[in-house]
Amino acid sequence: MNSVLVASNRGPVSFTVSDDGVLTMKRGGGGLVSGLSGVVRDDGVLWVCAALSDGDRSAVRQAPGGRLDHAGYDTGALRMLDIPVATFHRAYNAVANSTLWFVNHLLYDIPNSPLFGTKFQREWESYRDYNGAFALALAEEAGHDARVMVQDYHLTLTPAMLRAERPDLRIAHFSHTPWAPPEYFSLLPDDVAREVLEGILGADHAGFLTERWAAAFMDCCRALLGAEIDRAARTVAHEGRVTRIGVHGLGVDGQALWERAHEPDVESNMVALREQVGDRCLIVRIDRTELSKNIVRGLLAYREFLAAHPEWHGRVVHLAFAYPSRHDLPEYREYTASVQRCAQEIEDEFGTEDWDPLILNVNDDYPRSLAAYRLADVLLVNPIRDGMNLVAKEGPVLSPRAALVLSREAGAAAELGAHALVVNPYDVTGTANALHEALVMPEDERASRRERLEAAATAMPPQKWFAAQLDALAL
Ligand code: G6P
Repeated sequence: MNSVLVASNRGPVSFTVSDDGVLTMKRGGGGLVSGLSGVVRDDGVLWVCAALSDGDRSAVRQAPGGRLDHAGYDTGALRMLDIPVATFHRAYNAVANSTLWFVNHLLYDIPNSPLFGTKFQREWESYRDYNGAFALALAEEAGHDARVMVQDYHLTLTPAMLRAERPDLRIAHFSHTPWAPPEYFSLLPDDVAREVLEGILGADHAGFLTERWAAAFMDCCRALLGAEIDRAARTVAHEGRVTRIGVHGLGVDGQALWERAHEPDVESNMVALREQVGDRCLIVRIDRTELSKNIVRGLLAYREFLAAHPEWHGRVVHLAFAYPSRHDLPEYREYTASVQRCAQEIEDEFGTEDWDPLILNVNDDYPRSLAAYRLADVLLVNPIRDGMNLVAKEGPVLSPRAALVLSREAGAAAELGAHALVVNPYDVTGTANALHEALVMPEDERASRRERLEAAATAMPPQKWFAAQLDALAL
């Protein structure tokens, strides 16, 4: 039996299966996996995650009890849940990614969506079943008094379900996303909104990345549940139970990241990129192709910058790496297409025989992304809204001279804002001006800002972040 367990939708690895049935294992992407992978493995924690793809399902079906490590994979202790495909898709795509993600990132095109009808009721049932499957697996695997760390918006109902099953456990929930203010959160049907909040309040400790998201959650609990909140003590009292609220600003493990970024595959990507762009200055962005990342406005800002500053033509290149994400959702496919369209327009307008002003890449290539960080003169991170944004934290560790242009709506702005050039993500002209300011920033200012950014980015590496949450459960 296990004394510490982690549960999340996406696990540390995923599998692809070739036509002849051969499985290939790959590391998972996104902030949650980056944060948890190192820690969970080192401490011998059992990680429970969902099978996401056909490849994952084949791997699970060959593993005793869904334990991939027992099937000989080098994953650390890992149990993958083979949830029925239709249930999984309704829970993951329709509810988690198209509803809860949209609500907490304020992404709806309000005149047209959301729209909660009978279809949604079925989807919500599947979300309940999916959360129930996690609760059941955790209840089976957890030893007496174990600590269970439930992650993110996919699993908001699991804490309350698990508590009902196993009152001896100490349960934490952590949100890697922002949290919506009550007036936006209450777009959700009232019973659904309440179930989400009460699901999380089933935990002893609910963690958030910043004060702002923690405060929004508490405001929702007061407004929608009539719960008693104490902002100073960070507690929510509801129906006879008290949940403590914690703020844990996930950062990066500077040493490990630096070492990874100095391996030969990264060095050779640096050589290739330099060959491609020459000695021109580089404005770099690295994201999932994700609606909240605001890639189109970022490109439009670059376009305005080029239009306003002909002196930079031929002297700068924008590397925009936007690797694929959530392509089962039409909004994401359309978004990727508009990113590509916008990039093409910039190429057409400014490109010349011997100057490519923009290199857009929509394939996932981790070593190339690390190479781009190391070469950056400017790092652009301009999300509409973001729980934290680890790109903003990785950049200053890896890039010897990059100035950071950072959205004030990224959680990271709370810690890094003082040393970055902070922008309103909707203000394209403001962002264009900031790009220029970042390019012409004097060397000494760059150096001192970078140093302070790096210190802030590495203040709470994943090991410390995880330990603080475990400690919070020990109280
Ligand atoms: C965000 C979420 C994570 C998620 C990641 C990647 O960082 O907080 O929970 O894993 O995005 O998204 P995906 O849908 O590919 O898992």
